[in-house]
Amino acid sequence: MPDYDPHPAPARPTDAVIDARDLMKQFQGVSAVAGMSLRLGTGEMVGLIGPNGAGKTTLFNLIAGSLKPTSGEIWIGGREVSQESPERRIGRGVGRTFQIPRPFPEMTVLENVLTGAQGQQGEGLLANFLRPGRVRAEQKLAIDKARALLEFVTLSPLEHQPARILSGGQRKLLELARILMADPRAILLDEPAAGVNPALLETIMERVVELNQEGRAILLIEHNMDMVSRLCTRVVAMALGQPLAEGTPAQVASNPAVIEAYLGGAA
Ligand SMILES: Nc1ncnc2c1ncn2[C@@H]1O[C@H](COP(=O)(O)OP(=O)(O)O)[C@@H](O)[C@H]1O
Ligand SMILES: [Mg+2]
Repeated sequence: MPDYDPHPAPARPTDAVIDARDLMKQFQGVSAVAGMSLRLGTGEMVGLIGPNGAGKTTLFNLIAGSLKPTSGEIWIGGREVSQESPERRIGRGVGRTFQIPRPFPEMTVLENVLTGAQGQQGEGLLANFLRPGRVRAEQKLAIDKARALLEFVTLSPLEHQPARILSGGQRKLLELARILMADPRAILLDEPAAGVNPALLETIMERVVELNQEGRAILLIEHNMDMVSRLCTRVVAMALGQPLAEGTPAQVASNPAVIEAYLGGAA
């Protein structure tokens, strides 16, 4: 190993939307993430690949705040946030979707999207007593926004249906609408194509491209290399919790260490 630090800590915060530095996460002695660094620049679309068990979802959990790192730092928009709650990080502009979406099954599609609105539940109760008119106006704005987002993800015709009737792909679109309620500057997508039928997959890809063209940075975990190649300018590959390779999709896909990791992972 070279006798230098490949990721020296800068003297001042970076301008990256997300800057994860030397992250470690251990579960009962198992290192799920074992020294992973990753930067997502403003408006960038980056692919994150690696065999099952590589630590990709754990890395998302660390960035989004549902897990605290064993060590390392997470900077969002120039602030170190590794001790902040997931809600705070949503407020800082990070939205993430789950590998397996779990909408509230008995709530309608529209109500599920509304759960993505920031800071309205608890605050709303008190404000209800103090300024009912203002709350109603805010609720109306939120509903209008949720409807517009359902239109964007092509789920408008289903807005009054319970979420349990949605297909896997429709659930992924619903999640996208839900996180967009908070206007994220960075979107973390955990396997958006997995288990999605080809027609819906095209819709998902188109919407992701549009969101990126609006200037939102996107970090995409995806096994579908065709999708990664079409969408991403830069790909990071990880295995065993560590970075393995980085480059264009073609460079990373032909990297011997990456091929080896996938073959090993499949064995
Ligand atoms: N909550 C947890 N408790 C214990 N082990 C976990 C937990 N979450 C993930 N792991 C382990 O961490 C490793 C990385 O998992 P994960 O981040 O889900 O990988 P990937 O998303 O790349 O498939 C796996 O070995 C997995 O079993
Ligand atoms: Mg995963």
